[in-house]
Amino acid sequence: MGSPEILRDVAALRRTVAGWRKDGETVGLVPTMGALHEGHLTLVRAAKARCDRAIATIFVNPKQFDRKEDLASYPRSEAEDLRLLESVGCDALFAPLDVSVIYPPGFASKVSVEGLTACLDGLHRPGHFDGVTTVVSKLLLQALPDLAFFGEKDFQQLTVVTRMARDLDIPVEIAPVPTVREPDGLAMSSRNRLLAPEQRALAPLLARVLHETAEAIAVDPTAEAAPFLAQARHRLGRGGFDKLDYVELRAADDLAELAVLDRPGRLLAAAWLGRTRLIDNVPVG
Ligand code: PAJ
Repeated sequence: MGSPEILRDVAALRRTVAGWRKDGETVGLVPTMGALHEGHLTLVRAAKARCDRAIATIFVNPKQFDRKEDLASYPRSEAEDLRLLESVGCDALFAPLDVSVIYPPGFASKVSVEGLTACLDGLHRPGHFDGVTTVVSKLLLQALPDLAFFGEKDFQQLTVVTRMARDLDIPVEIAPVPTVREPDGLAMSSRNRLLAPEQRALAPLLARVLHETAEAIAVDPTAEAAPFLAQARHRLGRGGFDKLDYVELRAADDLAELAVLDRPGRLLAAAWLGRTRLIDNVPVG
């Protein structure tokens, strides 16, 4: 397997995709912010399984960071990322060297999805999803892939991006990929490498509490979910999480609040260990 072709600007990206298209090949896109782990690689494997060609993108998108400090500390490791992409047969990597490749001087547009972004992470990270939908719409229009792969790890992002592609008639299928976890259950995330050893030891509690709470709620779909959610919050606080942003039961399709499990649900949470914010979610029912 060769090393992925490295593309640094939009013209190179379009040329490469056009070459593949001329040969009748299908294209799968995997947008990332780098610091790649097994979760990202699973997305690339899914792209290779369903498409003739896979392109990964690495762009640490400043517009989606609501805290300067988070942007500054975001891990970056392109040489290692490239090695990992080669190991899964990724055909090309679009990795702009400068923010101006994506946001040239004078850039003034914003793609924004209403409703779905008003809750959960949207509430706690103002502007975050506008940053995500702006960059993802650009990446989709630049590459024009047949499929684009997104992880369920970021469930609200997956829901918002799916809505955006549908609303804007972007001719791409958004393909969801289940969350990849460490052996102890912790959802893989680039931010996990920012955890101190004692924080890393506490972190799997988030997934454990979510799974157990989801199971308990599903036992009786007519029961109020609120007491189960309160107990989950209590367990996370007692278990060493410094702050909880939310633990909520939502509808799996449109993220509407669910008081009882009267349709397929998703249990979502965001919690802090020191200065690191972890998110996770599991299906319910
Ligand atoms: P990033 O956090 O790098 O994640 C890139 C993709 O990998 C996302 O679709 C995310 O859901 C998926 N992913 C991350 N961890 C995963 C895991 N443990 N299991 C399965 N999939 C996982 O999400 C972003 O970047 C950005 O917001 C982006 C979409 C690239 C826009 O800038």
